[in-house]
Amino acid sequence: MSATAVASPNIAFIKYWGNIDQSLRLPANGSISMTLAGLETQATVAFDPSLPEDELHAQGAAFGSDPLSRISQHLDLIRNLAGIKAPARVDTQSNFPVGAGLASSAAVFAALTLAACAAAGLELDKRELSRLARLGSGSACRSIFAGFVEAFTGEDDGDAYAEMIAPAQHWRIVDLIAIVNRKHKQIGSTAGHSLASTSPFQAARVADTSRRLDICRQAILGRNFPPLANIIEQDSNMMHSIMLTSTPPLFYLSPPSLVVMEEVTSWRAAGLRVCYTLDAGPNVHCITHADDASEILSRLRAVSGVEEVIQAPPGNAAHLI
Ligand code: DP6
Repeated sequence: MSATAVASPNIAFIKYWGNIDQSLRLPANGSISMTLAGLETQATVAFDPSLPEDELHAQGAAFGSDPLSRISQHLDLIRNLAGIKAPARVDTQSNFPVGAGLASSAAVFAALTLAACAAAGLELDKRELSRLARLGSGSACRSIFAGFVEAFTGEDDGDAYAEMIAPAQHWRIVDLIAIVNRKHKQIGSTAGHSLASTSPFQAARVADTSRRLDICRQAILGRNFPPLANIIEQDSNMMHSIMLTSTPPLFYLSPPSLVVMEEVTSWRAAGLRVCYTLDAGPNVHCITHADDASEILSRLRAVSGVEEVIQAPPGNAAHLI
């Protein structure tokens, strides 16, 4: 009754922000992401009837304010499906900073879902695994898949899941993540999502989503960098406008984030294929074509406030090991 899975985080090109049903994590809008190679969370789940209750052993900082109860709730869904009651020991290990806007919960819940289902003897298809992972963390539904991935809003819990748009080798794009702060963020995504509807701009952002999704999907399928860059930056700026105008407001950007964003804009104006996007944290994901990556990497390392740059090309699907 034990299994281990590995999953990678993903960077959203078109962001999910806000839920129409917070407890079911039914997203207010669809999203598109790239799964990130090299960054990995490994989760081992062992159901053990002799344990008094679920145990979490997380390497490094854990995510969220009460990680064990969030994990236990997720395990309950899987226990119910499998018809088992045994508590579980969960071990997680991530090789990247957790809770700093690198979508750590996506990797944790994708790996946890896969490992727990296997340990419970459930054989589910990828769509069902993606739906289940979403219930643990909205963005985790995308980390079930490799490469370029789209998540759908769905009418209800049954049809809110993700699918692959194109495999990892489809396009030589790299995410160069400029780390400007490794610390755990103050307000996690779950709390942030619940504030989204307090921004007067959220309704307009949601209403405009299919336009952004179409442009992004077409740019990926056609390997067309300029429209990808424009829509990625606009989408990130739109999400951060919601954050800044929520009640209370959320400030995830920090001064060094803005410096990097400004530099990226000027490098693109000078002909390099690069654009920026930020999740719920200050670190700047610089999406670049692989042929321009070494030039962008050395420029990013020279920007004041950048502590480190992590390189991640399109990555693999979550898998059992
Ligand atoms: C800004 O999936 O981390 O990264 O469902 O509460 O775990 P929870 O939220 P999460 O939200 C992701 C927000 C985002 C944008 C995105 O990844 O689409």
